[in-house]
Amino acid sequence: MTFLESLEGHKWQWPILASFVALYLVRMAVRYHRLRYFRGPWGSGFSKLQYDYKVYTGEAHAWCRDVNEKYGPIARIGPNSLITSSSNVWMHINTKPEYKRSKWYFSAVRVEHQRDHIFSQTDTRLHDERRKQIAPGYSGRENLELESSIDYRLLELLDLIRTKYLSDPSRGYINPMDLSKKIQYFTMDVISTLGMGRPGFGMLRADADIDNYIRSSEEGMRIANTFSALRLSWIAQAPVIGKLVCPQSTDVKGFGAMMGACFRAVDERLRDADHDKRRDMLASFIRHKLVGDELKSEVLETLIAGSDTTAGALRATMLYVMANKRVYVKLQEEIDRAVREGRVSGEGVISYSTAKQLPYLQAVIKEGLRVFPPVRNIVPKDVPVGGDTVLVEGKPVFLPGGVDIGFSALAMHRDKKVYGEDADSFRPERWFDANQGKLAAMMKVHELSFGHGRWQCLGRNVAQMELNKAIFERQLFRYFDWAIANPVKPWDAMNALGLFIINDFLVQVSAR
Ligand code: HEM
Repeated sequence: MTFLESLEGHKWQWPILASFVALYLVRMAVRYHRLRYFRGPWGSGFSKLQYDYKVYTGEAHAWCRDVNEKYGPIARIGPNSLITSSSNVWMHINTKPEYKRSKWYFSAVRVEHQRDHIFSQTDTRLHDERRKQIAPGYSGRENLELESSIDYRLLELLDLIRTKYLSDPSRGYINPMDLSKKIQYFTMDVISTLGMGRPGFGMLRADADIDNYIRSSEEGMRIANTFSALRLSWIAQAPVIGKLVCPQSTDVKGFGAMMGACFRAVDERLRDADHDKRRDMLASFIRHKLVGDELKSEVLETLIAGSDTTAGALRATMLYVMANKRVYVKLQEEIDRAVREGRVSGEGVISYSTAKQLPYLQAVIKEGLRVFPPVRNIVPKDVPVGGDTVLVEGKPVFLPGGVDIGFSALAMHRDKKVYGEDADSFRPERWFDANQGKLAAMMKVHELSFGHGRWQCLGRNVAQMELNKAIFERQLFRYFDWAIANPVKPWDAMNALGLFIINDFLVQVSAR
């Protein structure tokens, strides 16, 4: 019998129902009132439906940008939700200790049933403790194989292109290659090598999405995105039913199978008597006393956080360079010059430290992350219980306690006040034209591509190394020429959970 059925015929039936409705309306009125000073799209004071719908259609990033442009640097997107495009406000929120991650993390980013990893952890104390344990493994300090692992995978990517995918337009031979796939194989192989130890997944060697890991993870992201938009993510964490919804490490295919491979690699490493002598990420996690399921979840998290993010950045920057002849030529000239001047030795992969000294390359990487921020989720944080006052364009603004506030990546990274009227254009030269004051302001915003403060990206160093070496690494532009195969629709991209699922990025690649 339902609650309503039990009331049927009872003389208090209508008064009780009316009280519930009244309580609901009062709650709505209180919420509306608390944030009444913030402007936002029509109806956002009463419902978050518009935002949820845009999450569902994969357009939330563009919608949030429009909202901030129209309603100001802090705007309302729901009865209890705000969005900001102000870098100062976002830095403040990510630095002040009393803010915490909102429940979105727990419901949308958890992959395993009722088990957290660093990224889904909303309890700040537990998060900080875990971060201390795993940060050394992400850094090069305790991970001496980091750079060589990336080099090794990059050489495999180059080899794959040379042996299987070269076109020869002068002889009328065109062999289109789906660069979106090859880049994902590369980032998957890098991150699985770093996280699980050699040999990693070996997708480049097989030139295949082994056991459909990538396809099923894309499907999983689409489903999770829909669940998140419909506010049903809690189902995955509900007792009994949640286990049926979440992928399991015992699955024979797809994401669950990837979890299985990851957990087996951890078990094997623990059985290895010499495991404490290794100098990679997994060894560092073990050395810092991560054990059992927690160890497995953190290794799995490296695969989740470290693949789509960097793949998105690599694909987008490749596309923007290919579509901009001026940039393409300048970049290639800088790379060739570095080789001629002997700054890059032999046939091997460029070292990260040398790559960092190529100014145009650095400007191209920054510009790629700026026009196409690969992480577009609003990653919301909760305002401390007593509320907080932030400065917006020099004026104090009070944020009531318990409200969640996220950031609009597009509004921030394409802010015309910071980057100039051509902020929507891909123009690496802006990083040289700017005077000192403007450059400092641009750099401050750019740094936020990887988050800020206690939640800042742990894989930043890994991602930067991959970006530097991979796309702009001298071989890609030294040995090959690139063209977009279908300029009318260069790729198929969809925002799911704030990351981009990119497919069908067909290119022609020929030897120079
Ligand atoms: C271009 C590539 C990448 C971008 C733009 C990026 C961006 C971000 C951002 C914005 C956050 C902060 C989210 C928040 O505020 O809660 C974050 C967190 C994180 N990222 Fe990345 N990321 C990238 C690559 C990577 C890679 C390659 C790895 C792994 C090797 C990684 C591992 C992580 C982890 C573990 C966290 C959670 C940190 C914490 O909770 O303390 N990321 N990333």
